[in-house]
Amino acid sequence: MARLDTRMRRMRRDDFSRRLMRESTLTADDLIYPVFVHEADGRAAVPSMPGVERLSIDALLRVAESASELRIPALALFPVTAPEAKSLDAIAAWDDDGLCQRAIRALKSRFPELGVITDVALDPYTSHGQDGITDDAGYVVNDVTVDALVQQALSHARAGADVVAPSDMMDGRIAAIREALEADGHVHTRILSYAAKYASAFYGPFRDAVGSSGALGKADKSTYQMDPGNSDEAMREIAQDLDQGADMVMVKPGMPYLDIVRRAKDTFGVPVFAYQVSGEYAMLKAAAANGWLDERKCALEALLGFKRAGADGVLTYFALDAARWLREG
Ligand code: PBG
Repeated sequence: MARLDTRMRRMRRDDFSRRLMRESTLTADDLIYPVFVHEADGRAAVPSMPGVERLSIDALLRVAESASELRIPALALFPVTAPEAKSLDAIAAWDDDGLCQRAIRALKSRFPELGVITDVALDPYTSHGQDGITDDAGYVVNDVTVDALVQQALSHARAGADVVAPSDMMDGRIAAIREALEADGHVHTRILSYAAKYASAFYGPFRDAVGSSGALGKADKSTYQMDPGNSDEAMREIAQDLDQGADMVMVKPGMPYLDIVRRAKDTFGVPVFAYQVSGEYAMLKAAAANGWLDERKCALEALLGFKRAGADGVLTYFALDAARWLREG
């Protein structure tokens, strides 16, 4: 008969000893809240993301107040561009009076302590919905796109963004953005690089939210976003972005890529973030709406999983609810 020298269940017996030996914890400090902002008045629901709304700048300020009150460290801002402002050269992306830039200024003047992270990528601004500028064959041209991304990042920094987050996956953009920020005196602007971003079908609801899915049609982003089968390649991407001046790196999507989060943390020991993307949110919401899953328990468990995998924080559409649930205990 097997001897039971170590009864693993001893420490699990009571709440006090379970709490003492818990290795990873989730707090509001770990949460970044992605928000969609539009030109229209008020709020508009995003059908494929129940509970998520596109917000006017006024509505955004009210959300920011809640986030700030819940001690969420930062918001990640995603503008919805009106169709008539989209173009082949995405010029609206670096309009100092653009929606994103106005939203940044409004947030920083009202809630200076709340971090503002902006998405650096051209997809909300291109008429075809790709993250960059294309040639006649529809291929996204790297270096021309990098020049545009630099203009966009500078415009965000001038408006007061604390963190610029390039999510486009062009080569060399971190070095170019870092150099331009330094030259323009923005020495405090942090770069959160979407270093390991996969060509994922889990972004579908996000593309509905920003209104790029129609333009994109059946096209995909696999000539610049990574193949879901690859892990070594993610380490090379991260190494390059750190070398080029990124302060933090991101792995995206989240839950199907927790091995990449763990490997990134173990390999580089730098701040690593994960994005629980729109499709992951939609799955949990849909199952909860059907009564198949307990939303609160499953969302908190998924978020804790990111921490255990090595993430320093998570971009999540559950951020406000999660912070409230954590507060309630
Ligand atoms: C665009 C961008 C995307 C997301 C964040 N920034 C979509 C894409 O790459 O097509 C997805 C976020 C989500 O699905 O929640 N550069």
